[in-house]
Amino acid sequence: MNKFTTALCALGLGFALASSAGAATSDEAIIERIKPLGSVCLEGDETCGGAAAAAATASAGGARSGADVYTQKCAACHAVGVAGAPKFGSADWTDRAAKGMETLLANAINGINAMPPRGTCADCSDEEIQGAIEHMIDSAK
Ligand code: HEC
Repeated sequence: MNKFTTALCALGLGFALASSAGAATSDEAIIERIKPLGSVCLEGDETCGGAAAAAATASAGGARSGADVYTQKCAACHAVGVAGAPKFGSADWTDRAAKGMETLLANAINGINAMPPRGTCADCSDEEIQGAIEHMIDSAK
């Protein structure tokens, strides 16, 4: 489910709750009641900075580029090789690439040893994780 759908679901939920609550006193009261639900952030704290940011991502077509995800989420460990993380721009990635994307993606999603699930990007789609991996593999070429 992408962010846009999630936002719509949250809105839908808001409307459902508002109408099931019965007689609303005024339009303003309804708006007040819907507002916090409409802007609720379900997909991880990082994007909770503002609904505007999430909306911007959604209207831009959803997926962040591999480079963006890498910079925001993966570079913390992969830029310098924290805890044995394969280092960006090094032959580490040539070795890892030999495992094949399917294995790398599964390990990145589930976590492996000191590599946390989804590299701490709880709101990254599988495609976004794969894009970041491709970005790192490309860096070794
Ligand atoms: C907290 C540090 C940390 C962060 C953040 C992090 N990684 Fe890692 N990553 C590691 C470590 C450590 C390893 C080496 C694990 C091992 O093989 O023992 C690793 C390994 C990997 C591997 C290789 C898995 C394999 O099967 O060999 C992939 C792919 C990967 N990370 C992707 C990512 C992506 C994509 C992100 C960002 C969305 C990310 N990582 C963020 C620490 C991190």
